[in-house]
Amino acid sequence: MRVIAGDVTTVEADAVVVNLFEGVEKPGGATAAVDGVLGGAIGDLIARGELRGKPGELAIVHTLGKLPATMVAVAGLGKAGDLSVERIRGASGEFCRQLRKLNCRRVVTVLHGAGAGGLTPELSAEAISMGAFVGLYSFDRYKKPEYSDLDELLIVTQDERAVAGLERAVRKGRIMAEATNLARDMVNEPASNMTPTRMAEMASELAATQRLELKVLEADDMRAMGMDALLGVARGSVEPPKLMVLSYRGNAASESAVGVLGKGITFDSGGISIKPAEGMGEMKDDMAGGAAVLAALSAIAQFGPRINVTGIVPATENLPSGSAFKPGDVLKSMNGKTIEVITTDAEGRLILADALSYARKLGLSPLIDLATLTGACRVALGTLYSGLFGNDGALQEKLLAAAERSGDRLWRMPMPEEYREQIKSDIADVKNIGNRYAGAITAALFLEEFVDGSPSAHIDIAGTALSAKEKGYAVKGASGVGVRTIIEYVLAEAENGGAA
Ligand code: BES
Ligand code: ZN
Ligand code: ZN
Repeated sequence: MRVIAGDVTTVEADAVVVNLFEGVEKPGGATAAVDGVLGGAIGDLIARGELRGKPGELAIVHTLGKLPATMVAVAGLGKAGDLSVERIRGASGEFCRQLRKLNCRRVVTVLHGAGAGGLTPELSAEAISMGAFVGLYSFDRYKKPEYSDLDELLIVTQDERAVAGLERAVRKGRIMAEATNLARDMVNEPASNMTPTRMAEMASELAATQRLELKVLEADDMRAMGMDALLGVARGSVEPPKLMVLSYRGNAASESAVGVLGKGITFDSGGISIKPAEGMGEMKDDMAGGAAVLAALSAIAQFGPRINVTGIVPATENLPSGSAFKPGDVLKSMNGKTIEVITTDAEGRLILADALSYARKLGLSPLIDLATLTGACRVALGTLYSGLFGNDGALQEKLLAAAERSGDRLWRMPMPEEYREQIKSDIADVKNIGNRYAGAITAALFLEEFVDGSPSAHIDIAGTALSAKEKGYAVKGASGVGVRTIIEYVLAEAENGGAA
């Protein structure tokens, strides 16, 4: 994607993209300029009610030689008062996909919404870039892509002096998008390929190509450190577990570092407490938190902020077998707390327990984890909002703000102490599930047992890791949720000279 200085009415392209706000009868700006050359064709579409400017809408007008471009595409931006970067990202994803279907190769777009409601040209460029790269994603390792790629997407501006700044914004959007797509690739990959070993290889590829350091703990290391909760879950599988520690050091003057953790269950059958067969294949996404952490670190290394961040991803399969851990077992976690296993299907909190203890041993703080942890969170918030839990109001506010900027939707959930009773065990320090109610909350309370007093936040992405349908910049399959929230949080912390 490039930025060029020029005029929409004279630029060569398969399609030129302009826009329309909902309810506007006489468009202005670039849309008016193009409409003038087209002899009022866009105005006619509006007058006939064919074009209304609804979000996601795209009207195509063939120029029949009146413009150097073959067609003009008018993208709906919704009501002017509702304009946001998120709207522009969504519009970009939509028009890019639709123009790809129409066999367009070279697409030129104006800076949608720039100047409206405080939206700068740079924010618009970043949004177009991110929306395009994320919206055009398809997972085609196992199937020929349905459409051929756009070769070129150009943003056109009339202001020659703005080009360099806009190019930087486009780069930021692209890095954000590439990280999102990297996480999506990992999640979409079938579980028999995306094993803990493969995840560790991918982490090592990131470390080899970027300013990141990787350490991988093997089963023997885990045994030496007393990570019996993680090892307990791993016992049912022949795939060796891995614990990845991927570090970015952008502030040599500081000893502290933010810890970002991600659940890396590469397949969750439930173990001995086996899940119903229907839809079990979805459980290849149970490493979406881990994938998001690795992908976010890769983007952070490219941005190079002045801050230290360490990503920790415990990874294993959860399978039933003759050597699997069992309901009723008691596991001793790394920090010494004992855990009664009521169900082997509440395995994410077990591996995260040891990962959190390990993060504290490394001195990381604050701690933020991303995990496809509970079906209960999906029941509570559905598939659009991830649940945010934590013990530190300021950290939660920062994460909510980061999510708001990123487009990930996050909702704060309560963690009442009274519910902690639910995870008290008769024979161990804690048990791994509570009663029927508030399952997402008792899971969060369980994790908090292992953060050793550090400010911490837990993001439950069980409902949001997959998108059911194509919309805006979302496509069917892995969503890449959490990746950009983590990046935005870290960039903002670095800007504000945050703790780490
Ligand atoms: N990986 C699942 C949670 C999940 C459910 C993710 C649906 C995505 C979609 C987790 O390990 C799990 O099995 N949780 C159980 C916990 C229960 C046994 C307390 C659940 O939510 O059913
Ligand atoms: Zn499970
Ligand atoms: Zn799970």
